[in-house]
Amino acid sequence: MKRPGRNDLCWCGSGKKYKKCHIGFDDRIEEIELQGHIVPDHSIIKNAEQIEKIKESAKINIAVLDYVAEHIKAGISTAEIDRWVYDITTKMGGIPAPLNYQGFPKSVCTSINDEVCHGIPSEDIILKDGDIINVDCSTELNGYFSDSSRMFCIGEVSEDKRRLVEAAKQALDEGLKQVKPWGFLGDMGQAVNDFIKSKGYSVVREVGGHGIGLEFHEEPWVSYVSKKNTEMLMVPGFIFTIEPMINMGSHEIFTDEDNGWTIYTEDGSPSAQWEIQVLVTEDGYEIISY
Ligand code: MF3
Ligand code: CO
Repeated sequence: MKRPGRNDLCWCGSGKKYKKCHIGFDDRIEEIELQGHIVPDHSIIKNAEQIEKIKESAKINIAVLDYVAEHIKAGISTAEIDRWVYDITTKMGGIPAPLNYQGFPKSVCTSINDEVCHGIPSEDIILKDGDIINVDCSTELNGYFSDSSRMFCIGEVSEDKRRLVEAAKQALDEGLKQVKPWGFLGDMGQAVNDFIKSKGYSVVREVGGHGIGLEFHEEPWVSYVSKKNTEMLMVPGFIFTIEPMINMGSHEIFTDEDNGWTIYTEDGSPSAQWEIQVLVTEDGYEIISY
């Protein structure tokens, strides 16, 4: 860890001397690092000003998903959802973060039934009764990022799919119970995985969450099959996503060879995912985007 001199300005941007600001915080992090744990770099710890800007971005993300929630129905194409996302985001002054991200061609990911994530909106994909769909929205506003996703049940959905969608949502609450400063991301990961296993479902291993805020995807990569007391230390000002992908059958997945993006369950079973963006606070957490 690179530390300022005691009388130098603190790295956090508070304008205070280091000895009056984050010195004790850094001592505590360093002690935990010495015990062999992974600790966050200063570059991913957000100050109050940055948190405010990230929340402004999240307001757009939430508004977009609220609109989708009100208007999604059988008979519309996923390209229609993409247009809603683009139009609302840009009208509110933001940029859809997925658009052109590593060559992604659309403004939002729409993943139906056995699609695990990164489904590409299309005029040819029409929502029908019984589908379950994940709509994954990400926004950039003035260089600050937000990211969240929700599941939608179209018309009459089978009981087993409905329960899968419900469990994927409950898994977030189980994970959240473990989000607090000076705990570890693995505490959250294990809580998610234990809960999902207890329901008879499986958690995707290869695709996970991420730090976010100043970039779309920041350190660390976040697993939901991790173990208690492992993975990165959580500290106040750390922002990351909880977004486990839950398969009804096996955890195995494969990627669409034609578009290079869409991920499916290997066994063709349905998959569900909800995503929230979470800030670690002094005494717990705050949900920034949902
Ligand atoms: N929103 C996804 C996430 O949760 C990322 C999608 S990247 C894209 O991290 F390019 F496919 F949009
Ligand atoms: Co994400």
